[in-house]
Amino acid sequence: MTSAPLVPAPVTVRVPAKVNLELLVGPRRPDGYHALSTVFQAVSLYDDVTVAAAEDWGVTVSGPLAAGVPENGDNLALRAARLVETHFDIDPVHIAIRKGIPVAGGMAGGSADAAATLVALDHLWDLDLDREELEDLASELGSDVPFLIAGGTAMGSGRGELLAPVLARGTYHWVFALAEGGLSTPAVYAECDRLRADEDVPDPVPTAALVSALRTGDPHELAAQLSNDLQAASLSLRPDLAEVLAAGMEYGALGGIVSGSGPTTAFLVENNEAGIDLAVALTASGVVRDVRRASGPVHGAHVIHQRTD
Ligand code: C5P
Repeated sequence: MTSAPLVPAPVTVRVPAKVNLELLVGPRRPDGYHALSTVFQAVSLYDDVTVAAAEDWGVTVSGPLAAGVPENGDNLALRAARLVETHFDIDPVHIAIRKGIPVAGGMAGGSADAAATLVALDHLWDLDLDREELEDLASELGSDVPFLIAGGTAMGSGRGELLAPVLARGTYHWVFALAEGGLSTPAVYAECDRLRADEDVPDPVPTAALVSALRTGDPHELAAQLSNDLQAASLSLRPDLAEVLAAGMEYGALGGIVSGSGPTTAFLVENNEAGIDLAVALTASGVVRDVRRASGPVHGAHVIHQRTD
């Protein structure tokens, strides 16, 4: 006779990175955040997050991009688990993160791990969270976390956490140039405020042109509409990125922007072959340390595996 397992089998959730196709930054709000209007796209660079019942709360990080990610209570994935613990009667878990998303790179890697942890805990402990409960927990953890659960292409408002779907046709191909070191998101927003100190910054309003471009499915149309209000601030803090952006365009990208707060740069290309060519050219140029090819939109955080042995 076999008895029911006392502990549930570990759950692995795969979660994508994001790129902001449009990032309009409005004035700083009284709570310190900035009013945003953004269009997110989830792209096929992934972290895999495995959550397992354990004696004590903990987190470990592995993979070639793991350097610099905290393995303690500062890790946003562990903070996500502890937040769930304040709402539900759950036992401790160990979280194992395998990083494929650049760290502190403007692609929401930390937020992605938090999103994955919420989805994994829901599955592991049968919490039966509905979409709204998941989104509420997600937005407590960070402005980008709800989008990493949703995935696809979506418009974000508020501080980025309020989502509305966007109709996007086709698949877009990207080359991401990884940069040495990371950038602190608060530091980039602060630099943005400093650079605009003498300006009257309006409330951000999404542009119809980007939404129309996404309906065509034509990467040329989309490339012409890519924009990022944080780019000037990222370049101010990291002037070396200007050379990377110029190299990407020189070697055939249709469009290039700093991804979110940077320092990763994102290049939109015509198709998969153009992506391979650009990745090779950027690497050979010596201007870029490391590149990743990806496509989007892809699904948000989703369970890929539950061990059954
Ligand atoms: O929401 P999240 O914790 O990811 O944001 C990190 C930091 O980025 C915030 O502490 C804030 O400094 C800045 N931020 C902002 N306005 C936003 C989103 C983030 O100023 N809409």
